[in-house]
Amino acid sequence: MSHHAIALFTARRTQYALGKNLPLPEADVDALIRQAIRLAPSSFNSQSSRAVILFGAASEKLWKNITKETLRPMVPADAFASTDAKMDSFAAGAGTVLFYEDQDTLKELQQKFPLYADNFPIFSEHSAGMAQFAVWTALAEAGIGASLQHYAPLIDAEVSRTWDIPVAWKLRAQMPFGSNEKPFAEKTFIADEARFKTIR
Ligand SMILES: Cc1cc2nc3c(=O)[nH]c(=O)nc-3n(C[C@H](O)[C@H](O)[C@H](O)COP(=O)(O)O)c2cc1C
Repeated sequence: MSHHAIALFTARRTQYALGKNLPLPEADVDALIRQAIRLAPSSFNSQSSRAVILFGAASEKLWKNITKETLRPMVPADAFASTDAKMDSFAAGAGTVLFYEDQDTLKELQQKFPLYADNFPIFSEHSAGMAQFAVWTALAEAGIGASLQHYAPLIDAEVSRTWDIPVAWKLRAQMPFGSNEKPFAEKTFIADEARFKTIR
């Protein structure tokens, strides 16, 4: 397929081998991430997604200090070497996007539309995923590699303390990004018969 969207979706891959050589100035990457999140859809256009964009030393602090030291007492000592290497690989990138969902926005929606009250937390998770996909794809198009990580809620308190995050923001994912330092791994696909039905 030669559609532009499909080309972009093909370019978005998980990249663990990150470096610091961004193809764009940090300010442009920052603007790109913000615009991707602004444009991502959300239920009732509630715009519940929030983001903290860490560059350089701040991103290194997230992985080499906060996440590594949070995990150290939780991981068996003989297994920590791989955790240590993994955290260093994220820190080797140029930055990290912290994806949040604003819980105050959810509460307002629940009060305004009680009929959907149970659904808003679910819609919020969907919106978070859409924002993450939008950013990941936009970074890929700019030649920037990234992966999607989940260390919440383990790191929440320390992250909030360090960067003064509003209490209503709930951390959902972390996206370390940087230059692509290795080719992407092979990706396989399950049979279409198992996942699609087209009906006419
Ligand atoms: C909802 C979701 C959660 C994921 N969580 C993680 C994660 O915690 N750590 C990780 O390394 N990759 C995570 N991934 C990345 C997937 O493993 C990856 O997208 C998948 O293997 C397909 O590879 P690709 O991204 O190169 O297309 C996650 C992806 C999604 C969509």
